[in-house]
Amino acid sequence: MSILITGGAGFIGSHTAVELINCSEKIVIVDNLTNSNMQTIDNIKRITGAEFPFYEYDCCCKKDMTKIFKQNDIESVIHFAGLKAVGESVEQPLKYYENNLQSTLLLCEVMEENDCNRLVFSSSATVYGSPKTVPIKENFPLSATNPYGSTKLMIERILSDICISNPRFSVAALRYFNPIGAHKSAIIGELPNGIPNNLMPYITQVAAGKLKCLNVFGNDYDTHDGTGVRDYIHVVDLAKGHIKALDYAKNHSGYETFNLGTGTGYSVLDIVHAFEKTNKVKIPYKIVDRRPGDIAICYADITKSKKILSWQAELGLEDMCKSSWEFTKKAFNN
Ligand code: NAD
Ligand code: UD1
Repeated sequence: MSILITGGAGFIGSHTAVELINCSEKIVIVDNLTNSNMQTIDNIKRITGAEFPFYEYDCCCKKDMTKIFKQNDIESVIHFAGLKAVGESVEQPLKYYENNLQSTLLLCEVMEENDCNRLVFSSSATVYGSPKTVPIKENFPLSATNPYGSTKLMIERILSDICISNPRFSVAALRYFNPIGAHKSAIIGELPNGIPNNLMPYITQVAAGKLKCLNVFGNDYDTHDGTGVRDYIHVVDLAKGHIKALDYAKNHSGYETFNLGTGTGYSVLDIVHAFEKTNKVKIPYKIVDRRPGDIAICYADITKSKKILSWQAELGLEDMCKSSWEFTKKAFNN
């Protein structure tokens, strides 16, 4: 019996693949490599010493997805595959709706046809829109402020409807907060194409001298130092959360949502200073205007994940800053 990881060559999928193999699980990866590369698949094998089937297929192709289910005994699926750049989703909404929705619809169809009833889905804290209060609980109102967020909301709805129609189906939708960091081997991590949109990849590229200076988007928010506060979580902790969610899905049917964050918020300047202190590098920065669409504060209430999944993040900000930097240094030297 194997676990199918869609998008397993990506940032979070690759770390989850390593953790699953560490737990002696058999895995199969499918990824069309639109935002990743074959080197990551080889590096998962290098880290774990394990062999596993990899399919360079598009999850939007039913024929190919069916082939994977016919060639492997898939008992559960973790569905990471998706496009995730918020700005690009505003410019090219159709591309996002088509890829993210179509891949999920087809995946669920093929799962039902092959009597596979267990799914862990990569959702996002973006489904909370602009929350009125923090910490954010799973039962807070949901909304979307961009097409990327809409795809996550729609998929959550679709999955919950499938669970109603099929009482044997089990879905854990995991709402990630801000994943950063990298595996301790420093050979898998996050290296975005082009200029990074997200804070940590931008900081590491400034540290590496690829970019001159960090633009801090606003210092007039109602936060302890005026800069935006987020719940940064180490990607290895996040990966472990998927294993707990799979265990949960094995023993329950129906649809359930879980926040995966640390429950602690750090500001942009907290991150800059922690990065400088941990890695002994200077990060030049300047304050610029707020980024449209940004909210002031976002961090998770993790009571539900702690209680029901028996999961909690273990790695702190220092680990996140250190591993992000070790990975980026190595990636740029190669
Ligand atoms: P990523 O881009 O590194 O990984 C996604 C992978 O999916 C890539 O390897 C890409 O090539 C693949 N992919 C995309 N469309 C595909 C398709 N149609 N068929 C096959 N493969 C396809 O992103 P990530 O950061 O690892 O994110 C994984 C998931 O988690 C995504 O669904 C993302 O929306 C969600 N998420 C990410 C974050 C974050 O900050 N990284 C936060 C919240 C939610
Ligand atoms: C962003 C997305 C969110 C997505 C998440 C993970 C937006 C508006 N939101 O979240 O939908 O789920 O990424 O992919 O794009 N910052 C700077 N300078 C930078 C980059 C960021 O000051 O160069 C600040 C931001 O204003 C924010 C914090 O750093 O306060 C974190 O930003 P980021 O890493 O982009 O994550 P989110 O905005 O939380």
